[in-house]
Amino acid sequence: MVPETVAFLDSGVGGLPYLAHARRLLPGRRLVYVADRENFPYGEKDRTSIVSFALSLAERLINREHPALVVVACNTMSVVALDHLRARFPVPFVGVVPAVKPAASLSRRKRVGVLATRQTVEGEYLRNLILRHAAGCEVVSLSSSALVEFVEKGLSRASPREREERVRGEVDRFLSEGIDALVLGCTHFLHLEPEFRLLLDTEGIALVDSREGVTRQAVRLLQESARQGGARHGSPDGPDALYVTGPLPLEERYQWFAGQFDLELRAGP
Ligand code: DGL
Repeated sequence: MVPETVAFLDSGVGGLPYLAHARRLLPGRRLVYVADRENFPYGEKDRTSIVSFALSLAERLINREHPALVVVACNTMSVVALDHLRARFPVPFVGVVPAVKPAASLSRRKRVGVLATRQTVEGEYLRNLILRHAAGCEVVSLSSSALVEFVEKGLSRASPREREERVRGEVDRFLSEGIDALVLGCTHFLHLEPEFRLLLDTEGIALVDSREGVTRQAVRLLQESARQGGARHGSPDGPDALYVTGPLPLEERYQWFAGQFDLELRAGP
């Protein structure tokens, strides 16, 4: 039988740690990932452009791979375009949004930090999320387009020292705020999880992200559609793949990321 395909979307390589997490809980599924290199970075674009990038990307992906489920592994795309994606396509979508709720319940000092893109930090979605799930908490939200850029374009060649210095620069911005939980609200930052963890542990600050919740929701939706006897979706041509949009040639770093996550590199979709 053709294996079910589960797809992941991001503006770049940010959502790959979500794919890696899901892989452990979704055995037997074919996983495909799309990095929208052509329109990267989303965090600095306006909402109308982000919606149109997301719709066009999802359309090409769905036509090519017929996924059973799409994980929008990008906070910026999720907070801006998830409703539009759900309204346009009959495929179930799981969004990734900053894990403010678990961070707020974890925080003893009731002071939480969120590190995300400018679009996420300034948007209405995060404001509402904080009102709904972090009432009584002080939430300090900061953006870093520099760290997004570093992960996308510099990580594949960065030394351990450079990785640590980049992260230290971001962590320092929160230290005077007295937070005891930090939400990584941009998927790109998960590539630097060990560096964040190391620095935050010594400060007694918990690191929070949404991988667990997102994967559980994906599993739930797939089980639900199997129970309802939904059609199995997938394309027959095999390996887990990393699609990268935009003109050829692709920069070498994409081959590096494909290797790190055991994916076959493809141009498209
Ligand atoms: N990885 C994305 C996120 O989670 C956005 C990075 C960008 O394109 O600015 O928000």
